[in-house]
Amino acid sequence: MKITIDGPAGAGKSTVARALARRLGFSYLDSGALYRALAWAALGQGADLDGEEGLARLLDSLELRPDQAGVWVNGTLVTSALRRPDVDEAASRVARHPAVRAAMVRLQRQLGEGVDMIADGRDIGSVVWPDAEVKIFLTASLAKRAARRALEQPQEDQGQIAQAIAERDAHDAERPVGALLIAPGAIVVDTSELSVEETVERLAEIVEAVP
Ligand code: DC
Repeated sequence: MKITIDGPAGAGKSTVARALARRLGFSYLDSGALYRALAWAALGQGADLDGEEGLARLLDSLELRPDQAGVWVNGTLVTSALRRPDVDEAASRVARHPAVRAAMVRLQRQLGEGVDMIADGRDIGSVVWPDAEVKIFLTASLAKRAARRALEQPQEDQGQIAQAIAERDAHDAERPVGALLIAPGAIVVDTSELSVEETVERLAEIVEAVP
């Protein structure tokens, strides 16, 4: 069984998906972490973030192995660096390229083969697993999403966080391939007024209602 959770930055996807996976005994895949790992490697090598072929070649040379702590990139575990603001921005840029997305989609399908899995991202329900049994689109107001990110990044200014999130959303929604959209059949859950626990409860009810 597959459960997909897509939505904009800061909607609480990872927190909720992780908690729901624990509750249901499913594996959890943070697809954004894969794009972040590529962005981290690209920044480290000074690669051109607009160069599709170079990035696809770089991705080809990387063994990406996600686990609960972060992502193993050619044998090195990358954790907090994946959350750096420069990696946020670079991840959104590398994710624009169709060749990068095609390789990432293949990797995600491989990781999910034969496994009950919850994955979160932008295109999981629309592209990676369009036949998933449960598809969720998790969203919240921009102000709420910025406030949540500000709790994770207390050294950053909340207004700037809101602006960066809005830019990243626009970037993620406007790209020609794998754009952020509500997948056909997805249930929209607005978490603006819900706690993490309430959101997990709501999603668990949705999953339990599946015949
Ligand atoms: O979910 P996140 O913020 O960790 O994702 C980081 C970036 O990766 C985000 O800007 C969009 C991109 N991404 C994507 O294009 N497709 C996915 N399935 C997941 C993330």
